[in-house]
Amino acid sequence: MNIFQQMQQDLDALETRDLLRCPTVIDSPCGAVMKIGGRDVSCFCSNDYLSLANHPKVCLAAGQAIEKWGFGSGASRLVSGTTACHVQLERKLAEFKRAPDAMVTSTGWMANRVAICALAGKGDLILCDKLNHASILDAAAASGATVRRYLHRDMNRLEVLLARHRKSAGRCLIVTDSVFSMDGDIAPLVDLVALKKQYDAQLLIDEAHATGLLGAGGRGAAELLGVEDDIDAVVGTLSKAIGSIGGFVAGPKPLINTIRNTGRAYIYTTAPPACACVAAGAALEIIENSPDVRDGLLARSAGLSKRLASAGLNVTEALTPIIPVIIGSAGRAADIAARLLEMDILLPAIRPPTVPAGSSRLRISLCASHSAEQIDTLVERLKEFAIVSG
Ligand SMILES: Cc1ncc(COP(=O)(O)O)c(C=O)c1O
Repeated sequence: MNIFQQMQQDLDALETRDLLRCPTVIDSPCGAVMKIGGRDVSCFCSNDYLSLANHPKVCLAAGQAIEKWGFGSGASRLVSGTTACHVQLERKLAEFKRAPDAMVTSTGWMANRVAICALAGKGDLILCDKLNHASILDAAAASGATVRRYLHRDMNRLEVLLARHRKSAGRCLIVTDSVFSMDGDIAPLVDLVALKKQYDAQLLIDEAHATGLLGAGGRGAAELLGVEDDIDAVVGTLSKAIGSIGGFVAGPKPLINTIRNTGRAYIYTTAPPACACVAAGAALEIIENSPDVRDGLLARSAGLSKRLASAGLNVTEALTPIIPVIIGSAGRAADIAARLLEMDILLPAIRPPTVPAGSSRLRISLCASHSAEQIDTLVERLKEFAIVSG
């Protein structure tokens, strides 16, 4: 059997276990309603929480930037890929995050890679929540540091690990998602700050799913929980609530300059397009000026989670627009997702390895532009499945 026949056999095995993945092709812009195969489908799975990806002001800003700057950036940031738009966005992000400095990377994935590799390496210790995003776990593995994972949000377990391993390590970095991407719950940042101080560690948080949504100013979970001054550095993405593409790191100037000098995923990749930076800047302005939109979204998310729970679905009260409906088996989750799509609702199954085995789910993400009618229909459809499984 040659290598490709072997691959095909592995793919067939995935299919047998209901784990084969295949993207749905969309024929319209990102939004609460999208065209799929000529039909209008309600999309409950994008991370475009504030519906800014296709917002007229964001699109106008991006369009004007393309006219002025063209599309491609042509080279990496350190060669000729840094335009005034990149620098302006970096200043804006630093201001928004109340950090001394900030830098933009081509994706949020890369932001985690460069931040983590700058903060820890050989001889150091990284402590990760077990449910951290793959980009954090992969960056930690790539850093060369010793990596230990604590049970999800389990501060007792983290303290045990710190007590056991801190002394023998050089530097120590605790990294966590601030809002967990597949569960929508929030990291215990107050306790994490106390532990990092007690054990002389650094605390890096990934605010990918919190930026633009949480806190009175929309700055994230650190703002919400009142610990912004105690976080050593923040990673974020421009591709979720901010509606663009790219990532960022915000933190002390020496960290940002270290990344500019050593961050392989910053140095050895092409800069994000200027228009993406301009679009992100326009989105940030909207975010700063519309607290009512995020407040309304969070209230509707909590309301939706309560309705689903009282309909008998396995849902806990939502603190963010991420509402996982836990189904259990991958096959059943995939089956429900396929039937929902037949009913014009796009809510794909999230299966292992993205989530632990036995916890396959339908991960609802609510957006600012979902109508009350769309939400009612979603509840009615999901209720039918709750009745079938009950
Ligand atoms: C917590 C978290 N961090 C980082 C990323 C990566 O961001 P990006 O999609 O911009 O690469 C994601 C999502 O994709 C995420 O959920």
